[in-house]
Amino acid sequence: MTQPTLETISNLAKQRGFVFQASEIYGGSRSAYDYGPLGVELLRNVKDEWWRAMVQLRDDVVGIDSAILQARQVWQASGHEEVFTDPLVECRNCNARHRLDKLEDANTCPTCGKSGTFTEPKPFHLMFRTHMGPVDSEENLIYLRPETAQGIFTNFENIRRTNRLKLPFGIAQVGKSFRNEITPGQFVFRTREFEQMEMEFFVRPEEAEEWFSYWQEQRFAWYVNLGLTEGNLRIRPHAEDELSHYSAETVDIEYRFPWDWDELEGIANRTDYDLKQHSEHSGEDLRYFDPDSDERFFPYAIEPAAGATRTTFAFLIDAYHEEAVKDETRTVLRLHHRLAPYKVAILPLSKKEELIEPVERIAAELRRRWMVEVDVTQSIGRRYRRQDEIGTPYAVTVDFESLEDKAVTVRDRDTMKQDRVSMDRLVDHLAEKLG
Ligand code: GAP
Repeated sequence: MTQPTLETISNLAKQRGFVFQASEIYGGSRSAYDYGPLGVELLRNVKDEWWRAMVQLRDDVVGIDSAILQARQVWQASGHEEVFTDPLVECRNCNARHRLDKLEDANTCPTCGKSGTFTEPKPFHLMFRTHMGPVDSEENLIYLRPETAQGIFTNFENIRRTNRLKLPFGIAQVGKSFRNEITPGQFVFRTREFEQMEMEFFVRPEEAEEWFSYWQEQRFAWYVNLGLTEGNLRIRPHAEDELSHYSAETVDIEYRFPWDWDELEGIANRTDYDLKQHSEHSGEDLRYFDPDSDERFFPYAIEPAAGATRTTFAFLIDAYHEEAVKDETRTVLRLHHRLAPYKVAILPLSKKEELIEPVERIAAELRRRWMVEVDVTQSIGRRYRRQDEIGTPYAVTVDFESLEDKAVTVRDRDTMKQDRVSMDRLVDHLAEKLG
């Protein structure tokens, strides 16, 4: 099926309460977005699935939650203070500012269409600056973190020592990052405040290539297993001039977004760059001691770095389907069960008291295991449509017959097939389906 347009997805996201523009009542912003009741569940499920795959199901990766506000020296040592910039050009005709490396035609302004009007490119710094403490002085200058990774590198020795870790091992983190992007846009794809899911996997230098390939395979499979269409995913190696200052080799996992292929996740071989830099700048010895060979050395870091908010957006786009049902168009979000905000909707056929009592009883029981919505408004057909649009895998209908036969109707979102299931088997029935 053809992909939805950016407008279709952003309208659905807004109308159904997935995502709103931040500060919307004051005009809204393209820099940051607020996640509504459905969006926060979807985003949380994406982050939980990442955490489960990267930390909980493995015995060689541990987690961390480091501070957003770090000492300025962290960003001096990491090289971000000096080189974390994008090339900025300004159009002399319309004054629009653009990021040069993202322009389709480096000589033509996409805002006014004039050619040859750009100023010379200048490096534009991407880190947000603020001050720690009551005085706005240069000594108190700090940055909002532009990546979560540095909190991992600075805690390398703390975590290795306290958890008695041996190479190879990883440290994973999920959290907010901030970049003063020149041109935020394409809805939540590129924002100035966003969430990342990053892991540094520390290895012996001679094993770096092997692990670099391993993580590409693992990460690609993660997206496919959670339902992203494989044909909409690809791996693209970075050209030499695209590499970040810390990387020896990087590939991007790209998704076919409505506008073009674009990055979901970067997997980089950061070598020993970061640990060496922090050792030099802090004076702490961050080398790894290998008791078998009696050697000290800096491990290499293989880094799968994904965007949580960007990935959530891709899952939303990929799940969107429109299909003809009788004379109507049905919109359905075919989200993977594990990602769907609600797993089950309970729909009484009428608002009559005698149906509400069993509905509440069933809802209380199902809520112990899953996110459940009870919907008593509108016709049953409309309620099914609404649940399809928000991706709820199963709808349970309680009707007047249920009072007699102690059974309910379970409707499958994808096939629209309906099964009559006895109330006392409902939890098991849904557990088999939802996994
Ligand atoms: N620690 C490495 C690192 O930060 P990156 O490729 O700059 O690498 C990793 O970022 C991921 O973070 C990207 O693949 C993307 O999914 C997400 N990301 C980066 N900048 C973003 C932005 N402005 N808005 C939303 N997501 C962003």
